Amino acid sequence: MSLLDLVRSDLRDFGGYGSARKTGLKGSVWLNANESPWASPADPGQSLNRYPEPQPAALKARLAALYKVREDSVLMTRGSDEGIDLLTRALCRAEHDAVLISPPTFGMYAVCARVQNAAVVSVPLVDTGSAFRLDVDAVLRALELSVAKAPIKIIYVCSPANPTGAAVALSEIERLLIGVAGRAIVVVDEAYAEYSEGKSALSLRPRFDFLVVLRTLSKAYALAGARLGITVADPALIRVLNAIAPPYPLAQPAVALALEAVAESAADEARRRAGRIVVERERVAAALAGLSGVLAVYASDANYLLVRFADAEAAFQGLLASGVVVRDQRAQPGLGNALRITIGSVEENDALLSALKALEVTRA
Ligand SMILES: Cc1ncc(COP(=O)(O)O)c(C=O)c1O
Repeated sequence: MSLLDLVRSDLRDFGGYGSARKTGLKGSVWLNANESPWASPADPGQSLNRYPEPQPAALKARLAALYKVREDSVLMTRGSDEGIDLLTRALCRAEHDAVLISPPTFGMYAVCARVQNAAVVSVPLVDTGSAFRLDVDAVLRALELSVAKAPIKIIYVCSPANPTGAAVALSEIERLLIGVAGRAIVVVDEAYAEYSEGKSALSLRPRFDFLVVLRTLSKAYALAGARLGITVADPALIRVLNAIAPPYPLAQPAVALALEAVAESAADEARRRAGRIVVERERVAAALAGLSGVLAVYASDANYLLVRFADAEAAFQGLLASGVVVRDQRAQPGLGNALRITIGSVEENDALLSALKALEVTRA
């Protein structure tokens, strides 16, 4: 089966909107896009009266170099959230196809499926008590079963996993890809890869056409507010995603910022900062494990910790009362007593730990 056979047949040859910027025409008097001839007085660079490049070449070249992939395998989107949405719409026929997720997991996979009216097949992660593990064999069994009902088109592997924290070993991802054998695309979401010592699935890209890897500048590159996500996939699939993407997805100021943020020296700094977060993560994990109200702190390869509490409600509310906001995970399957705590600066982490210690004192 070829990769394009997985794409909705009505979209395989779709060219998308032919925007003024896509024509590639050359000239010096621009009267083809109904833009204002004057820049806004509010525009610092005096160039935003013109529509931006849909896929800015300089940023694409830099990202391809950063991730060591081919430029034509890169699509830039408004956050990787948009990459997930485009993949769902490109592959899943409404009311026919399905995506597979391994809960507890990042919510947007199911949200995008819901918007597209695609089914969601769940194969839970296995809780070993100290980590959550992807059940590759169960995923492969679900894929087999799905063919007769709603064919699974996308299998999501979140690695490091949100909210559980564990990275999936590359050997397990490879085993999954071999087992799937092109019957679905496998999307490895590496939003938190910079905090992990594990090897990126990007290294498997050249061998597997139907492997897609998602990266983002929202986490280690500290640009969540700029919205810049990256989908790395086979060029044939990138062409389809590009065709169904909005004509000008990336705001030019965000692109300019992103270019600076991934320049070599800034990228080095991002790596150093990720290293500092990892050191803090281990310190906070050890301190949390020493608190009597804490039942479990899961091993994490990301910039957060999943923590089970004897009384998660008291911990959540007590932290809030101290001004410390963490993410409540109690609605997720199997996480009825868990909170997800992002690793912040040393001072922020100390504030978290002091608030939790104070709660213990109050209770004693
Ligand atoms: C696993 C995972 N994937 C993707 C995203 C979305 O990131 P972005 O800001 O690039 O849309 C997040 C955001 O928290 C996430 O946790």
